[in-house]
Formats: sequence, C-alpha cells, structure tokens
Amino acid sequence: MPTKEFMNVRRFLYNEQRLSPKATGEFTTLLLDIILGCKKVCREVRQFGLSQYQHTTGAINVQDEEVHELDDLANDLLLDLLTKGGQTCGVVTEENKEIVGVPASFERGKYVVTIDPLDGFSNIGVNVNIGTIFSVRKKISEGEDSNLSDFLQPGRSQVCAGYVMYGPAMVLVFTIGRGVYEFTYSLGIDEFILSRENIRMPDLLPNKKGSFSANTGYWNLWDDKAKAVSNFFMEGGYSFRHIGSFIADFHRHLLQGGIFCYPANSKSPNGKLRLLYELAPLSFIAEQAGGLAIDGSRPILDLKPDSLHQRSPVYIGSRDAVIKAMEILAAPKR
Ligand code: AHG
Ligand code: MN
Ligand code: MN
Repeated sequence: MPTKEFMNVRRFLYNEQRLSPKATGEFTTLLLDIILGCKKVCREVRQFGLSQYQHTTGAINVQDEEVHELDDLANDLLLDLLTKGGQTCGVVTEENKEIVGVPASFERGKYVVTIDPLDGFSNIGVNVNIGTIFSVRKKISEGEDSNLSDFLQPGRSQVCAGYVMYGPAMVLVFTIGRGVYEFTYSLGIDEFILSRENIRMPDLLPNKKGSFSANTGYWNLWDDKAKAVSNFFMEGGYSFRHIGSFIADFHRHLLQGGIFCYPANSKSPNGKLRLLYELAPLSFIAEQAGGLAIDGSRPILDLKPDSLHQRSPVYIGSRDAVIKAMEILAAPKR
C-alpha cells in the first residue's frame, strides 16, 4: 500500500474493486470516465474570462431555466463520454428532457448515470465555486437499452454518488457505499490524490461552529414553518453562510457541520432542487458521512421519483440539525 500522497483515485478504485471478487472493472472504468470528463469541464471553467463560452444560449431548458453556454458545453462533453464509453445504457441530465441513449454503433453497459453537468448557475461568470454532480445506478429493466424504470429507483439504489467542485482547488468527493472520500487535484502531476478519508459530518447543534444556509431572499414566499426553521438557526447564534451553489454549500457543511435548506415556496411549491441528479446523490453522501437529508418529513433517499426532473424541498446536513428542522416542521401550528 503506498503512502497517502501516492494514493491517486485510480489506485483507490482498483483497491476497492479487489474487495468485490465478482467485480469486472466496468464500474472503475465508468468512474474514471466521469473524472476525465470533469477535468475537461474544469479546464473551461478555469479560463472562463478568456473563453468563447461566455453567454447564455437564449434557450430555456426543460426546467424553464436559462441555459448558459458553459452548461451546454459541460453537458455535451459528459454525454459524449458517458454514452460512448461502453459502461452505460442511458444517461439523464438536467439539460435534456428525455433519457439520452447510447448511439446505435456503441456498446451498452449495465449502469445508468444521472448528472447535473454544472451546478451553480448564478455563480457562472463571477468566479465562485461551481461543479458537476453525478450518480450511478444499476440497470434493472430487461433488454439492452435503459428505460424510465431504471432511473425512477429510489436514492437508496445508488451504487455511487459524487461531485467534482471547481473551486480554488478542484476536489472530487464520492461514495460507493463504504464511506465518503475526498480527492484533491494536484496540478503538477495531473492526478486526484486522496485528501480526506472516511469523512464524518460534524454535529451542528452543541458546538455552534458549523453554519446554516438558505436563500433567505425567498422569506416572503415561505410558509410559517419554513420561516420557523430559519429563525431557529439564525437566532441561535449559528453562522449564516450561503454561496448559492448547492455543492459548495453542501461541501462546507460536510466538512464543518451545518444545514442547507431549500424549502418549498409559494412560487415553487415543490422547491427547486431535483431529486435524480442533485438531491439523491448529495443525500447518499450525507448519510454515508453520518448526516441526513429530508424533504421535510421523509429521508430523501426513500423517495421514489415519479418523473425524471422531479423536484423536492430539502433540508440536508448534520444529522442533529436536520432532525431539529424535522421537529420544527412537524410541530402543530400555534
Ligand atoms: P443549477 O445551476 O444546476 O440549475 O443549480 C442551481 C441550484 C443550486 O446550485 C443552488 O443551490 C440553487 O439553484 C440556487 O437557487 P436560488 O437562486 O433559487 O437560490
Ligand atoms: Mn444544480
Ligand atoms: Mn446545472
């Protein structure tokens, strides 16, 4: 076993592969493809001010949201790799209404992948952390191609979930169901090196060192219960920290303890964030790190999606803080 400074992500995955005697190496190849795609996306993000991909495209995606040229580019790069790499039989992304299948002449694999190619729309162009979220499930349907049933499995069926964040450092965080690991990209050697192993999300309530984040600009659109949750943390002396990229807010809470809330509001009755490619993956990571994610009353990982782009309210972070939020939400109206 090499010392930690030589534990690159490839070696880590090969070691994990050896723990499963039946493993074929397909999953390792898939994850390495995702990482390769993210490195290419990062290159574009890093030179944004100089790049040609500066503008919104003018298109409105399936979410009724503007699409940025960089969203489009990240989506195209990742789809190209994931649908032609031989390990998947379909991909769902934030930017495409339907499942993206594998082109006719390419091999099909046993995995389905969901991606948010670029998370943090409002931070594109202002040099604030953005990133890519991914989630992997095994195909359950018959036949070579995937169908809706493969994607509409509850979050607990994920075999892997992770994100790559393009911040001051590029970091990869993922779980394959055996804890949460962080790798940091080392520029000189072009490798992701293990930087944190078996991450545990600290409790928030007793130490008050962690933080609370939510877009409180929606205050007037929230119901009284959502306001009560925010009031509890804001009046309780917790730091308020909100970046506006889900993965960046989550990453802070993962390492330092905290809670991120995106409740329903009167304009978005189901909240904003999407189950398949935002909430399920980060909820899997949260639970693997000892944290929790709920829609208000139920664990996000237990929700069975009805549609590909389904949204849900979310309270995610340190276990004790999320349970506190759940108690406030369940309290009878005064
Ligand atoms: P995306 O850029 O993939 O559409 O996701 C943006 C998300 C998420 O990153 C963030 O937490 C949230 O949108 C912010 O939404 P508001 O501007 O409504 O707060
Ligand atoms: Mn997103
Ligand atoms: Mn996105």
